[in-house]
Amino acid sequence: MKVLGIMGSPRLGGNSDILLDQALAGARDAGADVEKIVLYQRQISGCLNCESCNDTGTCAIQDDMAEIQQKILEADAIIHSGPLYYWAMTSQMKAYLERWCVFCDAEWKVHKTYANRIGGKRIGLIAVCGDLNVSAAEPIVRSFKNTCLDMGLTWLGAVQVSAAAKGEVAQNKAAIKEAYQLGKTSAARN
Ligand SMILES: Cc1cc2nc3c(=O)[nH]c(=O)nc-3n(C[C@H](O)[C@H](O)[C@H](O)COP(=O)(O)O)c2cc1C
Repeated sequence: MKVLGIMGSPRLGGNSDILLDQALAGARDAGADVEKIVLYQRQISGCLNCESCNDTGTCAIQDDMAEIQQKILEADAIIHSGPLYYWAMTSQMKAYLERWCVFCDAEWKVHKTYANRIGGKRIGLIAVCGDLNVSAAEPIVRSFKNTCLDMGLTWLGAVQVSAAAKGEVAQNKAAIKEAYQLGKTSAARN
């Protein structure tokens, strides 16, 4: 069982980072091999809509996303974590998500190259916002959930947390527990 953590905040040691570490601890405790990728430390540009992946199943852009795409294919579960920036996901997370395009064909069905390698993967999300009303982060939840369901992946759900100052979430025991549990669930054997 492999669980991949994708950290979408540029603030290392911040709230998304802390919660993702908790989720990965949960996955590790459930017996999974875990790996964390900090998108901010990688070179990832957005999709160019060049359509070359529709034919080839590979992306024309040569950057760090090629390696991450392989890790996605190898993972049983992927947990994403990131903050709300202007009622949306961060630019780092958006560029990453756009590049999932490589897994789809021209009709937005899973590309034949990946037919047996993508379906059923478990996808989880941790969304942090400064707003006291955690539903402010719904746009991020919708993006990930719709992507997941559209591609026949398994949606594990979203942990939605309010936190503003760096590291503040470490004091929120309920959020820490929820993130840990998400990780544990992601690695549970059926
Ligand atoms: C550029 C920027 C835009 C933000 N926009 C919003 C927003 O639209 N709504 C909100 O509730 N919080 C917003 N925030 C606050 C962050 O979501 C909040 O500080 C969060 O805890 C950051 O998570 P991190 O520590 O994982 O980076 C914004 C913060 C920044 C830096």
